[in-house]
Amino acid sequence: MKTQTLGVSDLQVSRIAYGCMQIGGKWDRSPITPDIQRDAIKAVRTALDEGINFFDHADIYTRGKSEEVFSAIWSEVPNLRGKIILQSKVGIRFGGEPDPHDVTRYDFSTSHILSTVESSLKRLKTEYLDVLLLHRPDTLMEPEEVARAFDELHQSGKVRWFGVSNETAPQMELLSHYIRQPIVTNQVEFNVLHTHLLDEGVNFNQYVNRMARSVGTLEYCRLHNITLQSWGSLANGRVTGRKVEQATKIQTETTALVAELAKAKDVAPEAILIAWILRHPAKIQAIIGTTRPERIKAACPGDGVELSREEWYRLYTVGRGEELP
Ligand SMILES: NC(=O)c1ccc[n+]([C@@H]2O[C@H](COP(=O)([O-])OP(=O)(O)OC[C@H]3O[C@@H](n4cnc5c(N)ncnc54)[C@H](OP(=O)(O)O)[C@@H]3O)[C@@H](O)[C@H]2O)c1
Repeated sequence: MKTQTLGVSDLQVSRIAYGCMQIGGKWDRSPITPDIQRDAIKAVRTALDEGINFFDHADIYTRGKSEEVFSAIWSEVPNLRGKIILQSKVGIRFGGEPDPHDVTRYDFSTSHILSTVESSLKRLKTEYLDVLLLHRPDTLMEPEEVARAFDELHQSGKVRWFGVSNETAPQMELLSHYIRQPIVTNQVEFNVLHTHLLDEGVNFNQYVNRMARSVGTLEYCRLHNITLQSWGSLANGRVTGRKVEQATKIQTETTALVAELAKAKDVAPEAILIAWILRHPAKIQAIIGTTRPERIKAACPGDGVELSREEWYRLYTVGRGEELP
């Protein structure tokens, strides 16, 4: 597995990361069963065997159970902590908590950030996080509050590096103005069916059917050496065989092209999706979230697949569902 440096940090990370969002079972308060625990460790071990050294968490994933089941890896694989990179996130609060009337909301207050990190460290059974991300922009953010929390976490050694997720360039610029630590990563949704990160620059000054503004986020990250991480890298299986009631034309055509390229390169379709992300010169780190060992193994060879400019643009065009301007 190839590696790269994460932003301006000193972390050497695998180009493919493992997303632990689903390893804790259901997103409710049901307990962790022995089966869930066993499958989680099987997935994590498979990722390690494939050369992945980066594990992505969030406090909310399966309501804390993902972090909890992950911690069993310390006794399974001795002396592992210093060899892997652990990232978690903070800032999303579930509806109904703590008060039944509470709606789902975002919270970047100092107290919420600090207490959440404490809980994540306990569940993960570790002394520190390598990276902490702000999960989704909190429009009520007081940047001084974030700065205070980051300083305290950094000075105490509980968090080494900081980043954001789902943020635009101006949001990162605003935060950077207040915090003393560099933003090393921005985690955003990106895959062959979800290309808004690229579309804005490509479609500039055109009338287009579909446009989700990314406000120069790709260019901002490249200019400031902030590594983009892609979530949803496998497009949730939508072009690699997930059974759906009625596939769209884009889905059907993309599935066919992904299969054709996979055959030509003698890899699984999942590897083509990863190769497409890694081919971009922004050096995006691809996060895969499948819990199935066979799909982890199918995706990882993607870091060794070379896609030509022509193959890459064919996939981009079919996934966008329209010709370039
Ligand atoms: N920052 C954010 O806001 C954010 C949001 C979402 C996710 N994330 C992170 O990114 C990681 C990856 O995201 P993701 O899980 O959404 O993306 P993904 O890797 O594109 O999708 C994985 C999901 O798709 C399913 N899948 C894949 N191939 C399939 C197939 N052929 N047939 C049926 N199902 C298939 C997997 O099920 P199986 O497990 O059964 O294979 C799994 O539920 C997460 O684990 C998390 O760490 C971050």
